[in-house]
Amino acid sequence: MNVVPIRELARHVGETVTLRGWLYNRTAKGKLVFLQVRDGSGICQCVVFKPNVSDAVFQAADKLPQESSLIVTGTVRADARAPGVPGGYELDVASLEVIQRAEEYPIGPKEHGVEFLMDHRHLWIRSSRQWAVLRVRATVMRAIREWLDAHGFIEVTTPILTPSAAEGTTTLFKVDYFDDTAYLAQTGQLYNEAGIFAFGKVYCFGPTFRAERSKTRRHLTEFWMVEPEIAFCGLDELLEIEEQFVTHIVQTCLRQNAEELKLLGRDTSRLERVVPPFPRLTYDEAIQTLQHIQAQLQAGQIVRRADGQPLQDIPDPSLLDITWGMDFGSPHETALTQLYDRPVFVTGFPTAVKAFYMQPYPDRPEVCKSADLLAPEGYGEIIGGSERISDAALLEQRLREHGLPLEPYAWYLDLRRYGSVPHSGFGLGVERTVAWICGIEHVREASPFPRLLNRIYP
Ligand code: 4AD
Ligand code: MG
Repeated sequence: MNVVPIRELARHVGETVTLRGWLYNRTAKGKLVFLQVRDGSGICQCVVFKPNVSDAVFQAADKLPQESSLIVTGTVRADARAPGVPGGYELDVASLEVIQRAEEYPIGPKEHGVEFLMDHRHLWIRSSRQWAVLRVRATVMRAIREWLDAHGFIEVTTPILTPSAAEGTTTLFKVDYFDDTAYLAQTGQLYNEAGIFAFGKVYCFGPTFRAERSKTRRHLTEFWMVEPEIAFCGLDELLEIEEQFVTHIVQTCLRQNAEELKLLGRDTSRLERVVPPFPRLTYDEAIQTLQHIQAQLQAGQIVRRADGQPLQDIPDPSLLDITWGMDFGSPHETALTQLYDRPVFVTGFPTAVKAFYMQPYPDRPEVCKSADLLAPEGYGEIIGGSERISDAALLEQRLREHGLPLEPYAWYLDLRRYGSVPHSGFGLGVERTVAWICGIEHVREASPFPRLLNRIYP
């Protein structure tokens, strides 16, 4: 048996090969039955022509229910019109073996509501769009490790059970830890900061948890984050690393997932533009820009996106209300990012709205050396990063100002006592990055089994 993956059919034209997979769809026309077979690597149209096969095989093919598992053998034929992923190749079926006849499959070609599909997420991931998104996700994760490993970063795993908060106390998941309380990690950053003093450049990459009460298209309660951290690194150097890193991720997806992005209908010309340098905007400038956009919209003027089209997804200009000192909400990011054709950095957020560990500017302590990277086309924040406070006394003061207990952070303060150096790092959210690259509406489809405010099944 010459079993080949559908993705590699191009290399087997004219050969007899075997495909092993599942029936995705079936249509019949007289003596012809067209079986769309998927094997995980792609989808291939398998043509069963009555005179070419035994009666038993034809009967089996003609009645086979969707999602039945099967092994099919035939000759690979190149045909530019053949549908599939990748298209252009068909299988002229010689024999077919049914492994299991599937029961009636709940997900049909008809439209289903998203809650129904989410309840059937264990099956929905077989559908071609979901399959494509999750394959892009795998590429994103591979590209992340590839770039960091090639640039001298050491992967140091960080704990998921942690004694304290790092990204605010309001989004902590509590767990019983014997007679004590522990929290699911919101970030591995604080441990990364220990790691750089041993290894120079480190990263952690894993699931993180936030008890987010927000029901937006950008929030999950469990998401994957990669967090690089670098010793002897200030904010400017950090931004250069981030733009190289993000460019590598996007360009790798363009190269390795052309079929998937085509299936998703993604306008890839927009992703091709993702190359350094990314525009840099201070928070002060961003506030002015947002206020200006709002004024234009309120005056009934048309605000143009980077591609010349009118601004989208701001149903009411009052959504853009903002004054200096406020953190951005989703509408602000949605508006701002449409003005640029590539991701944009916003630096120097108010110290008061950011995490306790961010280094304030010495000459202007009300703003800090922070940077968010906002993805274009309205996608918004995909990276949060900053230079960290490297002085023990200042860090202790900031902990107090945030009302955090000092005891659980004693080890973290220690890091500033034995060879402290300026250092910086960032965290990139995998699902938001995947949603942007795939051009999908909601992060829930960028996770195989998403966890949301009101969903923990399946
Ligand atoms: O901006 P955040 O909160 O930064 C940190 O956690 C830092 N400790 C990272 C660091 O400097 N090492 O989160 C970083 C990124 C966001 O930009 C976003 O992409 C993602 O994590 N993220 C979420 N993704 C999905 N659902 C949520 N609830 C998310 N919260 C953050
Ligand atoms: Mg953030």
